[in-house]
Amino acid sequence: MLTLHLDDFSLEHFLQHYWQQKPVVIRQGFRQFEDLISPDELAGLAFEAEVESRLVYKKAGQWQAEVGPFESYEHLGEQDWTLIVQAVNHWSPEVAELVAPFSFIPKWRFDDVMISYSTPGGGVGPHIDLYDVFICQGSGRRLWRVGDIGNHRQFAAHAALLHTDPFEPIIDVELLPGDILYIPPGFPHDGVSLEHSMSFSVGFRSKSARDMLSGLADYVIDKELGNALISDPKRPLHHQQGQINASDFSMIRAQMQALLDDDAMVADFAGSFLSRTKCQLDLQALEDPFDAPELLELLQQETLVRIGGLRCFYLDATVAQGVCYIDGERYEFGASCKDAVVALCDSESLDYASLATGLGKPEFVLALTLWVNTGYWYFQD
Ligand code: SIN
Ligand code: CO
Repeated sequence: MLTLHLDDFSLEHFLQHYWQQKPVVIRQGFRQFEDLISPDELAGLAFEAEVESRLVYKKAGQWQAEVGPFESYEHLGEQDWTLIVQAVNHWSPEVAELVAPFSFIPKWRFDDVMISYSTPGGGVGPHIDLYDVFICQGSGRRLWRVGDIGNHRQFAAHAALLHTDPFEPIIDVELLPGDILYIPPGFPHDGVSLEHSMSFSVGFRSKSARDMLSGLADYVIDKELGNALISDPKRPLHHQQGQINASDFSMIRAQMQALLDDDAMVADFAGSFLSRTKCQLDLQALEDPFDAPELLELLQQETLVRIGGLRCFYLDATVAQGVCYIDGERYEFGASCKDAVVALCDSESLDYASLATGLGKPEFVLALTLWVNTGYWYFQD
């Protein structure tokens, strides 16, 4: 199990003074850190169509970016290129273990573990991200420069590569295996590999109001909500045909606001929307599915592990009724299952005792059986 070590401050101090505020280097955050996946395995993953990957390099001084899946890396030579693979935690249980040390931030804020393999001189160029990232250095050394937040011009160095102008560094460090660089959104940064190296980026990305409202619009349409039309009986005489007057505007606004004021509806939307994954899951349905009694028997001896990248949430407002959201779906198991629902969403691994309150309820056992048969959880050998 990976343990995060902070020698210079506590997690509370980190959250108070750095999270979303300023970058910081955490030397030897992971002691004796070893690559959680080999460069060869990473390169192999980028051959797969389901896996999101990119190659970034320079050709004749011009930045180039290619989107995977790839068939070969032979044209790239020995230096100055980087392979980036997104959501590797979905495909490698070992990489998925890098998420737990950052569980002091709730999972709904978590995005994915992106891994880059760089040859000497390789990097993606100076850029700004919209997410918080903990860049954990694996094998090899990489030079990182981070500039201050500010008005940095951004431009397309290539159609698929948004860069920023050169910046004055506030951090200029060489990361060694086990070192971590935390960068909040908006701080320009540039990493250049000094040798063959691996970086493991644990990313957290929040949603914009636009993301949320567009998701809410889809939800409202799917559930056929918000059908009531504006109604204005006994309206006063109107004199100016072209005017939407202040009181009419209030009515228009109030119609939309009424939807947002429906706490139960917005909570239900948020639970299902935030529990959806952005990248594909490595779901492997069982060829020989369990029936419920078989599952219960095995659970007495073995532990169930959640597949990497699966998102499971509950909300304070409804957890008492045993409501949870798993991969975009809402489930309600009743008050007696509350503790099981909490365990399901809080823990990466489950045993009989942690699920005990749910295992007495047939609906819960049935759902658990279905989840295991679908591949959401698997028995650890
Ligand atoms: C990288 O790991 O090469 C790029 C990570 C980043 O700066 O976003
Ligand atoms: Co970045």
